Amino acid sequence: MLVLGIESSCDETGAALISDRDGLLADALHTQIDMHRAYGGVVPELASRDHIRRAVALVDDVLQKAGKTRADIDAVAVTEGPGLAGALLVGNAVAHAIGWALEIPVLGVHHLEGHLLAARLSDPAPEFPFLAVLVSGGHTQILKVERFGHYELLGETLDDAAGEAFDKTAQLLGLPYPGGPAVSALAEKGTSGAIELARPMIHAPNLNMSFSGLKTSVLTAVHAAEDTSDETWRANLARGFVDAVVDVLAAKLVRAMRQTKLKRVVVAGGVSANKQLRARLTDEVRRRKGEIFYPPMRLCTDNGAMIAAAGLARYEAMTPEEREALRRQTGFK
Ligand code: KG4
Ligand code: ZN
Repeated sequence: MLVLGIESSCDETGAALISDRDGLLADALHTQIDMHRAYGGVVPELASRDHIRRAVALVDDVLQKAGKTRADIDAVAVTEGPGLAGALLVGNAVAHAIGWALEIPVLGVHHLEGHLLAARLSDPAPEFPFLAVLVSGGHTQILKVERFGHYELLGETLDDAAGEAFDKTAQLLGLPYPGGPAVSALAEKGTSGAIELARPMIHAPNLNMSFSGLKTSVLTAVHAAEDTSDETWRANLARGFVDAVVDVLAAKLVRAMRQTKLKRVVVAGGVSANKQLRARLTDEVRRRKGEIFYPPMRLCTDNGAMIAAAGLARYEAMTPEEREALRRQTGFK
């Protein structure tokens, strides 16, 4: 079975081919970062138009890389949401057009399920069940994943997502979009403890989090600074910010491990590319004799491979009746 995956929910156009027998065969990505940088964030209208320009060429690209033809594709998986409406529409239009032309089923994939399953593209891949820390630009959640399709939300941010806090902190420091990698690099030059920032809800007796108070704490520090161009101060502020995010996520993960008795952990979503976060969570989990898994570095942020993987997993989990219903719903074979 060969599944084509298409991702277009935000500022990345991704395509990939995955086979049930041979795993990920090819993936291709076009990032719009350079285009949006001038505006300090994603401009939805520009994002949609760029997806239109790129999507079909990326599909051809992965077919060529994998040495396959259109006729080899058995199903198309596409990000259904959440994401920017116009951007999602482009990927869905392309996926459904391909499905219609090839008379094959089209599977709608939840973007977060894609992020979660990206970790299954690692070697070794995590077995079920596991605890998942999902940290992206739009979401920050802790989930219990019993098996594919069975997700229990244990806790989440009550306001901003961790990635959003990174992006806003970057803006306050005049760093380029997207903020995560830039803040992380600056933090490496800073000293822990030089600037202490708020860690809202870190001691709350549950698995919920809050990052908007941390953002306010960064803003207050910026207003109080004598010289915001001082490199040492900037690095210390970035370090203080990263330490606060990492402390909160580590505390909540440890609480979740204790609460669920699960020792297998998956960290996914764009912020899981963060070096400081990876180092700390790996240490906390290993000290508790647990195992921790991350997606391959390049598959932490949005990509087509995670959507192809989630689509294949979804199809494999379907009963023959469900597959028949999907065929009827998309009208084919
Ligand atoms: O998962 P993702 O690609 O898109 C969403 O589904 O939201 O995540 C994007 C987020 C952005 O907020 C970006 O700043 C953050 O992930 N990010 C990072 C790093 N790389 C990306 N945050 C911290 N450190 C990084 N290295
Ligand atoms: Zn994402």
